[in-house]
Amino acid sequence: MIVDLRSDTVTQPSAEMKNAMLHAIVGDDVLGDDPTVIQLEELVANRFGHEAALFCPSGTMTNQIAIKVYTNAPGEVICDELAHIYRYEGGGMAFNSGVSNRLIHGDRGRFTLEQLQAEVNPDDVHFPPTQLVALENTCNKGGGCYWKMSEIERIATFCRTEGIPIHLDGARLYNALVAQKTSEAEMGKHFDSISLCLSKGLGAPVGSLLTGTKDFIKKAKRIRKIFGGGMRQAGYLAAAGIYALDNNVERLEIDHANAKKIEKVLHAMSFVKSMKPVDTNIVIFTLQDDINLIDYLAKLEQKGIKAVSMGAQTVRFVTHLGIGEAEIEYLLKTL
Ligand SMILES: Cc1ncc(COP(=O)(O)O)c(C=O)c1O
Repeated sequence: MIVDLRSDTVTQPSAEMKNAMLHAIVGDDVLGDDPTVIQLEELVANRFGHEAALFCPSGTMTNQIAIKVYTNAPGEVICDELAHIYRYEGGGMAFNSGVSNRLIHGDRGRFTLEQLQAEVNPDDVHFPPTQLVALENTCNKGGGCYWKMSEIERIATFCRTEGIPIHLDGARLYNALVAQKTSEAEMGKHFDSISLCLSKGLGAPVGSLLTGTKDFIKKAKRIRKIFGGGMRQAGYLAAAGIYALDNNVERLEIDHANAKKIEKVLHAMSFVKSMKPVDTNIVIFTLQDDINLIDYLAKLEQKGIKAVSMGAQTVRFVTHLGIGEAEIEYLLKTL
């Protein structure tokens, strides 16, 4: 048996999703007349209470477009030190937008209003202008944890008062919403823009949406074209996204419950030194010092279990819709 826990990006489209893709009515999205893309963009914008949305090939692109729209050199973006936009987007902020980062040492990727306030630069020639605050929810490297709504509200209120735009990297936002039983509109009202991935826990093969005001999305569309992200008959992909949003949201609870089962078993294992608390679909644990990480991952692989490392002695498992009861049973027995 293969149990692929490397990421929730490895999900394969179901027969029903492929059927929705096959029957999509498409146009040319660069020319703006693909009806299925338009339907998806309207659906997501409406759900989050934003004016408009833009369908893009990846979450990296939606994040990088947002940063490009809000910032310019020599500005500064404030985010947590674990943020995907800082660690895992190839230095895109510097490369695409010519901006630097102010990093907050938060709690598993989350910070407080007070921590943010301490990092906003004064209007002084010595400092780069603070041009954007970016949050990530759930936080990948933080172990899939989600932000308290009350802290998001405090931070968002402060950003509005200060006139600093606030962007949300919501690659796994639905995991946070389902875990907290919070609505999209409740989350959406606090952010100027949101990046939402369809190709992670929601199980679509490709695609992310960027939401915001009409004016912001107009600018974003121009940047998408420059970044090479304009797609033609993209409705086939958008159809998978619509299917995912209609069918694969509530079931994220199953992934969360499975991650909890893994957590419980790992807690009792002598080879585990420590673990991050499990809040959604990501399990991150550290191996005892005398265990070789490469050997451990190879041993798992020999048994058909695929995982990735997230740093020194650290292993990550991500649950998703390709991991059913049989896979969990096999994994727990093998562990
Ligand atoms: C938190 C977060 N943001 C953004 C991305 C980027 O998404 P993509 O792989 O679609 O570029 C990822 C990918 O894993 C992620 O985990």
